[in-house]
Amino acid sequence: MTTEESDCKNPEKIDYQEHWNGAYTKKTTDKLGWFEEHSKETIDLIKKAKLNKNAKILNVGVGSSMLIDELLTDGYTNLIANDLSRKALDSLKERLGEDSLKVNFMADDLLNPKRLQALDDVDLWADRAVLHFFLKQEEQEAYFSLLKKVVKINGFVIIAVFALDGAEKCCGLELKRYNTIMLQEKLGKEFNLIEEFNHTFINPYGAERPYIYTLFQRKSK
Ligand SMILES: C[S@@+](CC[C@H](N)C(=O)[O-])C[C@H]1O[C@@H](n2cnc3c(N)ncnc32)[C@H](O)[C@@H]1O
Repeated sequence: MTTEESDCKNPEKIDYQEHWNGAYTKKTTDKLGWFEEHSKETIDLIKKAKLNKNAKILNVGVGSSMLIDELLTDGYTNLIANDLSRKALDSLKERLGEDSLKVNFMADDLLNPKRLQALDDVDLWADRAVLHFFLKQEEQEAYFSLLKKVVKINGFVIIAVFALDGAEKCCGLELKRYNTIMLQEKLGKEFNLIEEFNHTFINPYGAERPYIYTLFQRKSK
């Protein structure tokens, strides 16, 4: 077990908001087990999508990731940063400083969405290391039903999750691991696979974390 895992409890009945707020309270961003200094793989897929700079990009479960900083630097102007954890969003806002005014922060639960539910014109749904926490069938259904509600036709979906040979736990929570076929099945035939690759992320504690990165495009509703 890595330090990151042993620091987090996994009680039977878990309040996920509290769990994630706790994770972001205990550690600075760069000490989180999923911290990456550069979101190179995600940025590579975004470049592949050839989005306009004003494209609506929804980063779900953003945490305090550096992706938002990188997208602002690259000139993207229509960013939505979502997370269940207000603590994560506060930490991201604090780091961004004045630039935080350029980002739409949406504290909301992907599995029981309130504010997210109102969206219907998202050009890119970007998820790194979020979907794999949803173990139950109904949670996965809630996730993909929201995705299909908000992503517009010709819009893109990036899902980067633990691969089948990936870690079994993160932040003390069990994971469901995926391959591309499983993701395609969840998305349905209205989404075309554009790109996929494996990437082994080395976490801040030196552990290997095999991920799959996928880019899909929506062809129809
Ligand atoms: C492992 S972290 C990944 C954070 C970020 N995507 C990254 O790559 O650094 C998982 C994130 O998903 C968020 N999360 C977990 N369940 C969620 C839910 N139901 N709705 C929204 N966010 C959620 C957590 O708060 C946490 O920030």
